[in-house]
Amino acid sequence: MLESMAGLKRSHYCADINETLLGQEVTLMGWVQHRRDHGGLVFIDLRDRSGLVQTVFNPQEDPATHEKSHDVRSEYVLALRGRVRPRPDDMVNPKLATGKVEVFIRELRVLNVAQTPPFLVEDHADVTENVRLRYRYLDLRRPAVLKNFVLRHNLARLTRDYFADHGFLEVETPVLTKSTPEGARDYLVPSRLSPGSFFALPQSPQLFKQLLMMSGLDRYCQIVKCFRDEDLRADRQPEFTQVDLEMSFVSQEEIMEILEGYMKRVFQDILGHELTLPLPRLAYSEATLKYGTDRPDLRYDLEIKDITKILADSKAQVFAEAIRTGGVIRAITAKGAAVFSRKQLDDLVALAISFGAKGLAWIRLTAEGWQGPLVKFLTDKEKTNLAAALQAATGDVIFFGADQEEVVAQVLGQIRTRLAQDLGLIPKEGFSLVWVTDFPMFEYDQENRRWAAKHHPFTAPLDEDLGLLKENPRQVRAKAYDLVLNGNEIGGGSLRIHQPEVQAQVFAALGLKDEEVKEKFGFFLEALAFGTPPHGGCAFGLDRLAMLLAGANSLREVIAFPKTQKAACPLTEAPGQVKARQLTELGLKLEARSD
Ligand code: AMO
Ligand code: AMP
Repeated sequence: MLESMAGLKRSHYCADINETLLGQEVTLMGWVQHRRDHGGLVFIDLRDRSGLVQTVFNPQEDPATHEKSHDVRSEYVLALRGRVRPRPDDMVNPKLATGKVEVFIRELRVLNVAQTPPFLVEDHADVTENVRLRYRYLDLRRPAVLKNFVLRHNLARLTRDYFADHGFLEVETPVLTKSTPEGARDYLVPSRLSPGSFFALPQSPQLFKQLLMMSGLDRYCQIVKCFRDEDLRADRQPEFTQVDLEMSFVSQEEIMEILEGYMKRVFQDILGHELTLPLPRLAYSEATLKYGTDRPDLRYDLEIKDITKILADSKAQVFAEAIRTGGVIRAITAKGAAVFSRKQLDDLVALAISFGAKGLAWIRLTAEGWQGPLVKFLTDKEKTNLAAALQAATGDVIFFGADQEEVVAQVLGQIRTRLAQDLGLIPKEGFSLVWVTDFPMFEYDQENRRWAAKHHPFTAPLDEDLGLLKENPRQVRAKAYDLVLNGNEIGGGSLRIHQPEVQAQVFAALGLKDEEVKEKFGFFLEALAFGTPPHGGCAFGLDRLAMLLAGANSLREVIAFPKTQKAACPLTEAPGQVKARQLTELGLKLEARSD
């Protein structure tokens, strides 16, 4: 028989019950985590969003309530009223916040029953992620899972406070809109009232926030959902949240200063960690040279060095070939890695090859001399110069990449990360925040054989590089900056183009035809011509930031109802089929699929 809550009012959350309440009567509402019958005494651990408390039912002191407690099962919903008392010394549980006390229950009401759950709702339940997501509402009952959402809430709240304190106005931008290019595929929504036409869900509010600057709003921010149909990884979701902001009449320095202030506040409030400002900066070219990536993890050194000059006349075919074809030779010294097994070395070679290398030459520096496939080709002078440039000594291993610059950077960047893991160089605690600046404006899209915007096409080129837009897009650098936390890109932004002619030149450099520009961005170019202030901004990935602050290793741990690798939701089974009538209304017809 279910009972009602009538006349009872919750007095505390479970985790609030402690020694300061000894002797007091409390009313708790929550779920049964666990029921134990100790031949007489019955214990029920009651759980709510705060945590657990132990409650006790005693057949001598209150036989009726004790009797009732026998019918209770896991995940039943209870209201319990009773008195707080100390646990006997031998029953104290130091692992639990409420571990020194228990609540002796006088009244139990079963507010609802529950089926046997598919997994134990416990912090360390052994359960696959798919089952967790299928029953996410049960998964979220676990305080260890829920705690990330408390962190995320605090993060969102301080974000709003910080930007409001700095004069930013929160404005909502449309979700049903036109494509905003950020380099991913669009999610499309068919329009019923304009058959054959589609809305695109925003990849970001980029165009709208710029329009808001044109409207004189001066400072905008929004915590906003963005949608990108791209291949998923642990740090990417098809719908995710940005802290999006834009400012007028500011320099890059001023923007970065406000954003650094935001980071300081985030680390202070969420982790009690004091960041030292200003944050370090690295130019893109330096980051890719030294760390092989534009999002370097600087918690450890392990620098990549260019040794093309030292090996300019090398007799080794691998090196000579790279030089002949205009490539580079770079290397990384792994301190103490001479102890690596042959299998460990082979695994590193395989990793390099999986990232496009032709191989990964290595040299082991042992007490017996240098060992490795290419040692026989090295002259004494080359050896001396290499050891000096790479600061390599006995006990170390040198890994070489010889190829076109982009390939070598990418491959040695991956090797660097793996070596840091294998050598245990990544500290468990600690943060490295770094700005990466002066990005190239464009990158070559091999598949479509054209230039693509590295950030997005509204980013301003460096003034001194404007003249290169037409003839030499590869050399054009952008007024763009990314913020990198422990090797993860947590935010990115730029100063924007505010002159229509420059915007038109950038579209032209991207190979967009006038017609296409007009159709896609006509409204935007028109707006640019009505007195656009100089402006710029940034967007942080709120999910990524929350994930890193929570020490989680997947965005799914900080998104309440996330999607799987296949961009599907195991709980709702979205995406789903629609009725034929709905398709007809939208003027759509499905093609029979062959697979
Ligand atoms: P960008 O594309 O760099 O810039 O995105 C900003 C930040 O959003 C996060 N992010 C993601 N997080 C989770 N899943 C994804 N699929 C995903 N994609 C991006 C990253 C990234 O740093 N409009 C510009 C910003 C600007 O120029 O102001 C933009 O969207 O943390
Ligand atoms: P090979 O001459 O192909 O037998 O390669 C000799 C050694 O050089 C092997 O250890 C390969 O892994 C390595 N190697 C081959 N190509 C490259 C390259 N482009 N860069 C670095 N190492 C390479």
